[in-house]
Amino acid sequence: MSARNHKNWLAKPPVESISSECYSSQEIFEQEIKNIFAKVWVPVIHKSEIRNKGDYRTSQIAFENIIVVNAGDRIKAYRLYDARYQISGTLEAPIVTSEPELYCEVKHGGMVWVTLDSNPTQSVEEWTAGAFDCIADAIDTEELEVFHYHKAVIPTNYKLWHDTNSEFYHDFMHYFNRVTGFNDEYFARKNIAFDNGHVNVSSFTVNYTEFAGATDRGELSFPNLPPNQWYMVDLFPGFNFNLRGSAYRSDSVTPLGPNSVLIEFRGYGLLNDTPEERQQRIDHHNTIWGPFGRNLHEDLLGVTGQGVSMAPGTERRNILHGRHENETIHDEVGMRHYYSEWGKYLDIDPYHMVDK
Ligand SMILES: [Fe+2]
Repeated sequence: MSARNHKNWLAKPPVESISSECYSSQEIFEQEIKNIFAKVWVPVIHKSEIRNKGDYRTSQIAFENIIVVNAGDRIKAYRLYDARYQISGTLEAPIVTSEPELYCEVKHGGMVWVTLDSNPTQSVEEWTAGAFDCIADAIDTEELEVFHYHKAVIPTNYKLWHDTNSEFYHDFMHYFNRVTGFNDEYFARKNIAFDNGHVNVSSFTVNYTEFAGATDRGELSFPNLPPNQWYMVDLFPGFNFNLRGSAYRSDSVTPLGPNSVLIEFRGYGLLNDTPEERQQRIDHHNTIWGPFGRNLHEDLLGVTGQGVSMAPGTERRNILHGRHENETIHDEVGMRHYYSEWGKYLDIDPYHMVDK
């Protein structure tokens, strides 16, 4: 390869690539909030978090405060313009001044989905377009329950959290995954694209016992799963559902700025777990995904580094999506599928952006 000067470095490469402006531009960020997040279905909480009538959780979609309430007969969601609290010895539920209700559905393992769109053209089932089919029997046969919640505000762009869940070649960064995965089945996993920008990743058998101190997870597999499987659903524009045999995780992103994102992590077991089973699931979950686990914080460090290099004001770079490997695990077909959909919402072609 011939030597490269700075001008060569900045030239658009002859493979699929997008501009780092997609991550750093305030203008693009504002369009994303208005054109994407204020329109799509967002998985805001799990129904087990509001089990009793009157229970509620608050959240934010596209900088709008919302409240999700167990109304007894069903779960309802509202914009939260003004919450006042009645104090009569005990704190009572907030009085919500917003009307009408927001569209709200409980779907795919008991997630509560809300959209700010006052006239959604698709149900959650239609919107998710089959992306959950691969894990439907595992998450919809028995009731699930949240056993873990933590959140992180990360100085990075929300799409970089999507990207780390979509491109798998960064798996080389994860010692646990290198040791327990990376068998022939792993490299044969397929990225499967669905309408509306969603992708799922087919499963393989993880060899958990290859990691010192880790135990086999087959006994506690979610319903209707062969032992030690690992499925992943990447939902546009950045919600992730990750089933590692005995424990299930969801990530919900709330973009706060071009270089700031709130990510909420939930871990799930089966509602009918015995205390011993639940403890085992929690151990399995935390081994990999807990704040001191072997995977999730490594991803957070990775995207924080990417956030430093692509923060507002940094020099434009070309982000390559040109890896083609027959749509197997390290192929970037999922990235290309996602960004093609993303461009439709913003009326730009991210693969042919005009250099500024
Ligand atoms: Fe990762």
